[in-house]
Amino acid sequence: MIYLDNAATTFPKPGSVKRAVADCIESIGGNPGRGAHALSLLAAETVYDARCEIADFLGVPDPSSIIFTPNATYGLNLALYTRVRRGDHILISDQEHNAVLRPVERLKKDGIAEYSVFSGQGDVLANLRSAVKKETAILICNPVSNVTGERLPVPEIAAYAKARGICLILDGSQWIGHGTPDREIIRLADAIAVPGHKALYGIQGSGFLYLKNAEGCKPFLSGGSGSESANPDMPPYLPDRYEAGTLSTPAIASLAAGIRFLLERDPDLVAERERRLVGYARERLSRIPGITLYGTENAASSVLSFREANRTPEETARRLDEAGIAVRAGLHCAPLVHRRLGTFPEGTVRVSFGAFNTTNDVDGLVSSLR
Ligand code: ALA
Repeated sequence: MIYLDNAATTFPKPGSVKRAVADCIESIGGNPGRGAHALSLLAAETVYDARCEIADFLGVPDPSSIIFTPNATYGLNLALYTRVRRGDHILISDQEHNAVLRPVERLKKDGIAEYSVFSGQGDVLANLRSAVKKETAILICNPVSNVTGERLPVPEIAAYAKARGICLILDGSQWIGHGTPDREIIRLADAIAVPGHKALYGIQGSGFLYLKNAEGCKPFLSGGSGSESANPDMPPYLPDRYEAGTLSTPAIASLAAGIRFLLERDPDLVAERERRLVGYARERLSRIPGITLYGTENAASSVLSFREANRTPEETARRLDEAGIAVRAGLHCAPLVHRRLGTFPEGTVRVSFGAFNTTNDVDGLVSSLR
């Protein structure tokens, strides 16, 4: 099988990730932070070590600003609900995933906050300036589109948000792990939601939210934290305030092992290889009659969207699946960008590369399409 759906979840997982999960289940079976027996302490140590490794990877000084979550969607909801206040105005870009669009729509329907969408095309800063209002308190965007791989000018967006005192929440789903994390952007962001199971090679159910300036904020979920158990409120300090309920030690261990895997290979080299595969695929697909490619040629990422003439994306994906090639078709949970591309409502066929893909995989895709 040729697996070209790494933007949805990377596959296969590195051997070291599989071993970390197995080790955890076999030998580190206690509940982290919920007891003082040896297995519970071992689990707590595993979680703490992972927190420190993630903080190091991002280049942030305080490991307690890393909140473990089951996925990026949870992290985005947590960041948003923790920071939003009644009457706020929120800005989002037109390349956002439903993990952003649906929560802000919910806030609007509940009468809590309004939102506007700015275009990620053309002069993005001018688009932002014309969409901003005096009530704008939060700006959410994903630096890299999961549909086209196109990048937003995040350094400029982050500097703009910072200068206006707007809380900046980033969706790191297609960004963190693709190359060495950009420390300047991370320094400016108030929150970054990251899935563990994509470019960090952890298992599904792993993820984290980097959360800054959130000491006194509203908890998203309340429950056991293993600390201050006599207190009816969540503890005031991080990470406990935002981590209610038992954490998944195997998922967290897999995430740390995935980051180590990436660091051993050098994230910049992995990202460069993926970019080259996108360039190679773009070049070869453009020579097949009837194929339309989307996104700009200089989209520096690991994804590429296309469509075949006279065939819906779902049909193309089904036929490729029959040939043993896994791709994702449809709207990719990002309807706004498809409206901009003119591919709504059927969407596109998306191929996305990971550390284990080679040019042979692209050749297989091309010969199957031919
Ligand atoms: N957000 C994931 C994708 O782009 C699932 O496919």
